[in-house]
Amino acid sequence: MAKIRKAVFPVAGLGTRFLPATKASPKEMLPIVDKPLIQYAAEEAEAGGAHQLVFITGRSKRSIEDHFDKAYELESELEQAGKHKLLDIVRGVMPSSASCIYVRQAVALGLGHAVLCAKPVIGDEPFVVLLADDLIRTSGKGVVEQMADVHARHGCSVLSVQEVPREETHKYGIVEVERGSDGVMRVISIVEKPAPADAPSNLAVVGRYLLTPRIFEKLEQTEKGSGGEIQLTDGISDLLKDEHVIAYPFEGKRYDCGSKLGYLEATVEYGLAHPELGERFSAYLRAFGAAGFGDFQS
Ligand code: UTP
Repeated sequence: MAKIRKAVFPVAGLGTRFLPATKASPKEMLPIVDKPLIQYAAEEAEAGGAHQLVFITGRSKRSIEDHFDKAYELESELEQAGKHKLLDIVRGVMPSSASCIYVRQAVALGLGHAVLCAKPVIGDEPFVVLLADDLIRTSGKGVVEQMADVHARHGCSVLSVQEVPREETHKYGIVEVERGSDGVMRVISIVEKPAPADAPSNLAVVGRYLLTPRIFEKLEQTEKGSGGEIQLTDGISDLLKDEHVIAYPFEGKRYDCGSKLGYLEATVEYGLAHPELGERFSAYLRAFGAAGFGDFQS
């Protein structure tokens, strides 16, 4: 079975739910405690064996390239000041085994179109797609590695899925599945952002996809769909006609950091888990809660 060597990060969206923070800076650069979202995603891909990182970028995305680039001036200043711990942190942003490729999506025509932009660099091999604003905390293997394991066993595309409340189906791609005797869920159909009454289930696809290269053929033929965009969901729906696709309920907790509330939840929980800050932050939250959240409770 082909190994997963390449990861695609579509980062060309407009991030409208997070305006004005995302007016001049991409939402993927929003930090959770001390690391930007895109770095968590890159680390997860790397840990899953994908060392070639392909970023699909758009306007105002320079900071992502800069983040993964070498910062000569900063490094030499930290070195001269003897700040070796910080120097290691800065150098560690980009593992030596990884390489970055940037592809420009000139117009934000949708997630499906963004993935299609990666075709020339992916070629004829399976790959993963990570939406960095879906941050997933795991206690063991990261989700990319979990999906790569599923792919190694079954050889087909894998979609990470999660149950969501019925009233939220209109925010996601929703799958209809059938469970085989092996316990594996095969996708029968997939639909983008259905109203709760029309949703075939409450199993939502979240921002991790492992796709076979045939998806490119399908996306090339995909017309504009929901929201006037070329939807990855529609390409996958077409792929289902030719290939099996597995729905994989990943192990881990997902935070929707493209929404303000999800972002705040991630900040609190990553803050509590932080090796240097966790204890003090926990004490602060306890005291703040005991005081009835001060004047801030509405
Ligand atoms: P979203 O649906 O979250 O859209 O895109 P968005 O523009 O980023 O955010 P909101 O909803 O306006 O707040 C899903 C993913 O697809 C990427 C986005 O960067 C995000 O990671 N994307 C979307 C592209 O790369 N290109 C597109 O044309 C559309």
